[in-house]
Amino acid sequence: MSLFQWIDFQKLGDERGSLVAIEIGKEKAVPFEIKRVYYSYETRSDVRRGLHAHKELKQVAICVSGSCRMVFDDGNQRQEKILDIPEKGLLIDKMIWHEMYDFSPDCVLLVLASDHYNEDDYIRSYSEFIKVARR
Ligand code: TYD
Repeated sequence: MSLFQWIDFQKLGDERGSLVAIEIGKEKAVPFEIKRVYYSYETRSDVRRGLHAHKELKQVAICVSGSCRMVFDDGNQRQEKILDIPEKGLLIDKMIWHEMYDFSPDCVLLVLASDHYNEDDYIRSYSEFIKVARR
């Protein structure tokens, strides 16, 4: 079973270049109401980010510049994808352990989230995640 669900955004390109618009309250491709947007950039190529799961939060990650690798783990299997297409997002469902690594120097990882930042929603211990996921 694939842990990955791609979310396709419409590429509004013309001879000047490309553009993707995500309208809050109107975007049909994202399967939740977007309440927060954040992005990471200038990430060192030797670090792993993420390394957590969320109890309830759903997110869509879009690599709007450059590339990185994303690992998904549902407690039973671990799968990996490269993100390098600005009009394609990956759904990070709740209770998916995720890790990002191998960031290119120009990588900008934009994330759409279903709720505001809440540290209580994080599971930051892998052993705790495995316990909850296999319950
Ligand atoms: P962190 O959870 O380490 O990011 P990642 O999952 O990409 O490794 O977040 C880095 C810091 O930013 C941490 O102190 C929490 C803070 N933060 C916010 O304040 N708001 C947010 O929306 C996010 C995602 C992080």
